[in-house]
This record gives sequence, structure tokens and C-alpha cells, in this order.
Amino acid sequence: MKRTHYCNDLRATDESQTVTVCGWVSRVREFPETRFIVLRDRTGILQITIDSSNPCFAATDTVRGEFVLEITGAVRLRDPNNRSLQYDTGEIEIVPSSLVVLAKSKPVPFPVDGTPVTASEEVRLKYRYLDLRREPLREALKLRHSVISSIYQFLDSEGFISVETPMLTKSTPEGARDYLVPARVSAGNFYALPQSPQLFKQLLMMANFDKYFQIARCFRDEDLRADRQPDFTQLDIEMSFVDVDDVLELNERLIQDVFKRTLDVDVALPLPRIPYMEAMNRFGSDKPDQRFALEISDVSQVLADSSFAVFKGALEAGGVVKVLVAPADLTRKQIEMLEASAKQNGAKGLAWTKVTASGLEGGIAKFLSPAEVAALLEVTGAVAGQTLLFGADTWDTAVKALGAVRLALRDELKLITADAPRFHFAWVVDFPLLEQDLERGSYTFMHHPFTSPALEDIGLFGTPEMGTMRARAYDLVLNGFEVGGGSIRIHQPEVQEQMFNAIGFTTEEARARFGFFMEALEYGTPPHGGIAWGLDRMVAVMAGADSIRDVIAFPKNARGIDVMADAPSAVDAKQLKDLHIKLDLE
Ligand code: AMO
Ligand code: AMP
Repeated sequence: MKRTHYCNDLRATDESQTVTVCGWVSRVREFPETRFIVLRDRTGILQITIDSSNPCFAATDTVRGEFVLEITGAVRLRDPNNRSLQYDTGEIEIVPSSLVVLAKSKPVPFPVDGTPVTASEEVRLKYRYLDLRREPLREALKLRHSVISSIYQFLDSEGFISVETPMLTKSTPEGARDYLVPARVSAGNFYALPQSPQLFKQLLMMANFDKYFQIARCFRDEDLRADRQPDFTQLDIEMSFVDVDDVLELNERLIQDVFKRTLDVDVALPLPRIPYMEAMNRFGSDKPDQRFALEISDVSQVLADSSFAVFKGALEAGGVVKVLVAPADLTRKQIEMLEASAKQNGAKGLAWTKVTASGLEGGIAKFLSPAEVAALLEVTGAVAGQTLLFGADTWDTAVKALGAVRLALRDELKLITADAPRFHFAWVVDFPLLEQDLERGSYTFMHHPFTSPALEDIGLFGTPEMGTMRARAYDLVLNGFEVGGGSIRIHQPEVQEQMFNAIGFTTEEARARFGFFMEALEYGTPPHGGIAWGLDRMVAVMAGADSIRDVIAFPKNARGIDVMADAPSAVDAKQLKDLHIKLDLE
């Protein structure tokens, strides 16, 4: 192919040059004397103008949308009246001397030329290769490439070594279900696809690699959401001889570099840090969206003697009463929507009342004494025209439910204003090490079982205060999304064993699952720590996309199905036999 230029390379300064361009027909406009073809390639669009006197005119008779053309011709300045300022090549057109149809196309199931698409996401995913011709998706994937390329440049310049780790491996505990792969050569046994390279990157630290990174594919069989895919990509990082500050500082400079290079956005450093408990108390979330101010207040003290059964019951059971001030006089319908959101997040209801010039009115106002009303107004600073929304429950349920209501208010009342920062980063730090696993009636890990406790808390293993132990863990939050998480790891075998015991694994069980790792720890393990970015989520926020599916070339749908390739799908009996598998679909 003798292409000389991409479509969007050409400008008025190229006037009279003879060029060859190749691409897809985005649009054809036919007039008796002239035909206009808008040609599209990876870079953008370019107009081809063919007058009826042009020998190529006849060849355009059969040209339709999405045909693939090779066009050689001269660059001509357009008549000033016909310039299109909405795209970069709008001042020029190509007058072809040769027009070759390289391939025809069937009519496409939805437009890919920039006109709004009404087709369902299911149809777009089935024809993903067509959807990817659309500019927003193409630009998102180009951004993704630039982000990865910047990451390589930065981490290489910092002395990091990229190492690949296996896909067919053993289960790694990140808290999701594993994808299993049956092993033909070892009847009845299975590989697991990695939920992350966690154990391997720690082994690389033991192996003296000192600074590792990988753009790593991870596999987790979990309930899907807009920001989750069964297979997704992490930027995985691990470093030896470091403490929390070293890991955060390195990542901050990486973020600053990537945002500058790819979006020309300046990220101010250091990034704010917020302790987990503070994030939960103020924003009801361990990934607070701080692009808007709305905060939760605790009114348990104020309502300590409340006669309202809901508040009284929660407080007597050792719980709390929390309140959120909605900056609007909410309608009944809006309150119902918010209550549904609270209930979806574990709350039993969402008590409310309205602030007026004369105090509180409606909802639960009738249960409040004048002293309680005065105190509520003082603590919350609420003013007339606003609505108070209450969560009365255990601390955990009350803050999480109001955290969800806070986000619903963000969307309903459009609380993110034009002057809000485009990107708001924060580190969430000082996570608890363990959390209650209500199903098993024991503790489980909050991040993963290789996370180091705060050094001053190590003595609490096995004591009644075990639940208060803090972790040397951190999450990276961007615009309310958890875009990364990591920790300093346990590097002493004794501590690792205490951790396994704390989460209910006997030494024997831990050895059966992670024996190789426990053994490796005993051969001189450097202190180490790291992080993994959810790369899809990071790029989705950077691209302003609603879903990580928009920044993944070939994603699964919301039910984990690849509707284009039709996977998962049945396999033939011979394959199953080779794998020693009998199906039991009862
Ligand atoms: P974690 O489990 O927090 O940590 O994962 C790191 C980041 O990966 C992203 N992520 C996902 N993105 C899309 N789809 C999913 N299903 C999905 N699950 C997670 C999130 C998350 O913050 N090994 C540790 C890291 C470490 O300790 O260094 C780990 O995997 O953005
Ligand atoms: P009830 O007394 O159950 O009719 O509830 C009165 C109001 O309190 C309703 O608006 C409920 O949504 C709300 N409510 C009920 N339980 C709770 C709770 N645990 N926290 C906050 N509000 C609640």
C-alpha cells in the first residue's frame, strides 16, 4: 500500500500536493454535479470532492458507507464558504485522480459516523469491531495506550523492571471466586487464573528484583457492575526496603507524570490523605467523592433522649444516629428514591424532616422536642429550604447508607458544579487490618492476608482487641472510584502465621494453600510493599467514560458474557473427556 498520509495529517499548507490516503467511507453526499465522500481513518476525517467532470466520478456510483477506499489526488483549498471549522481538515479537500474500492461493506447495524447511536449496548457489543470505529471509543483506547506508554517511560526511568507472571497458576486470595482451568495432564486438578499477581510480585522481591511492575491481567469471578469486569487490567507495582510514604510518593509522581503527558493536566502534590474512619464518618464511603462538599454529621448525642422509636431503638442497641443535610426542599418522590437507595445499602428506612423559617416541619418533626430541634439545627448548620435525612442503625450501616444517599443526591441535585475540580485524588489510609466475617463468625482480612499490621499493633494478634488492629494499607481514590490499593507486606514468617491464624486458617491449612510462599518467606525476605492500580478504572475516569467497558477493546457485558465471540459456550464431548470432566447440570 502506498499511503502517503493519514487523513488528519493534511492541512491548508499542503495545498497542491499529491497524496494517497486510505480509509472507510464515513458519509457520501450526492449532488447532480458533485459527490462528496467523507473518508475516515484512525486519525480523523477528510473530504474527497469528485466533480462530474472527474474521470473517477463513475466509480463513485456504487460507493456506500463503510466501503474501504484508496484515494490518490491533489490537496485543494476549499472555497471559503464551504469550510468546515468543526474538524481539523475542514479547510481542504482532495480531488482524486484515482479511486480504488479495496473492500465493500454491508449496511452497518448502527451508525459509526458520529451521528448519535440509539442501538442497545448489547448490539454494539455484538458488533464491537464496528463500535470501535466510532471516535469516542477510538480516542479512549488511544488514551489508554498513552497512559500505558507513559507508565513504562516513567517507571523505567525510576529503575523499575517489568516482569511477567503466570496466567495458569494457583489461587490467590483477593476475596473473589477463582476462574478455574482443568488440567488435562493432571486428572482432577485445576489451575486458577490469577486474581492478581500478588504472591508472584512478593516472590520477586524475595528474589532481589527490588523494583517490579507489570501491566497485568487479573481474573475475578464476582458480581459485575459498571466498574467491574471478570478480566481486567492492573498496573501492578512492588518495591523492596520501603515504607508507606515511599510507595505513596512514587505513585504520586507517577500520577503527576501520566496526567501531564496524556491530558496536559497538572496534579498538585502531595495528594491529600484521609484516614479510613474519617472518610466513613464524613462521607459514608471508603472511596469518598470529594468533588462536592456534602458531609454526614453525628447527632447521637443530640438525640440521646429521643422519644422517636427508630432513634431510641438504634441508640439503645449501641448504634448511632447520623444525618445528612440535602441542600434542597426535596419532593416526596425524591425522598422515596433516596429511601430506596438507603434500603439497598442495608438501612431500614430514611427518616426525614424539612427545615423551614420556623424550625423543622413534616416527616419526623413531630417526634422532636424544641431543644432537639435547636440542637439539630446548630450541629448541622441547616437552613430553611433544606431537608434533613437520618440514618439510625449500627455505625457501619448508618454511615454506609447515608454515603449511598449522598451519592444519589449528587446525581439528583447535580451537586458537582462547573468549578469543581475535574480530578479529585485522595489516599485513604489507616484501614482496619481485619473485619468481621458474619457468615463464618470469625475475622477475615480487609485487603488480603499478606498486608502488614501497623507495627505498634502487631502485639494485638490473638487478643480481644484484635478487631482494632490497623493495617499499613492504602487505597487510591479518584472522583469517588477506588482506582488503586496496596500495602506494606508482612515479611516475617512468624507474623504471616499469626495473620493466617487470625483469619481462621490453621498453620496446616495455610501451608496447604500457600506452602510455597510460607517457605519462601523463610529464606531472607526484604521488607517490601506495593500497590495495584485498576488501570481500566483509572483510564475510564480520565476519559470521562461512564463504564470501564468504554475503555476496554473487547469487554464482557454486564452478565459477564462476550456477546460477540459468544463466550462462555459449550464444548464438545471429546474435549471434556480429555479434561476428565463429566457435566452434572442438575
Ligand atoms: P485490589 O484487589 O484492591 O488489590 O485491586 C487493585 C485495583 O484493581 C481494580 N479492580 C478491578 N477493576 C475492574 N474490575 C474488577 N473486577 C476489579 N477488581 C479490582 C480496583 C482496585 O483498586 N494485589 C492487590 C494490590 C496490592 O496489594 O498491591 C490487589 O489486587 O481499582
Ligand atoms: P416507621 O416508624 O417505621 O414508619 O418509620 C418512620 C420513618 O423513619 C420513615 O420515614 C422511615 O423511613 C424511617 N426509618 C425507619 N427505620 C429507620 C432507620 N433505621 N434509620 C432511619 N430512618 C428510619
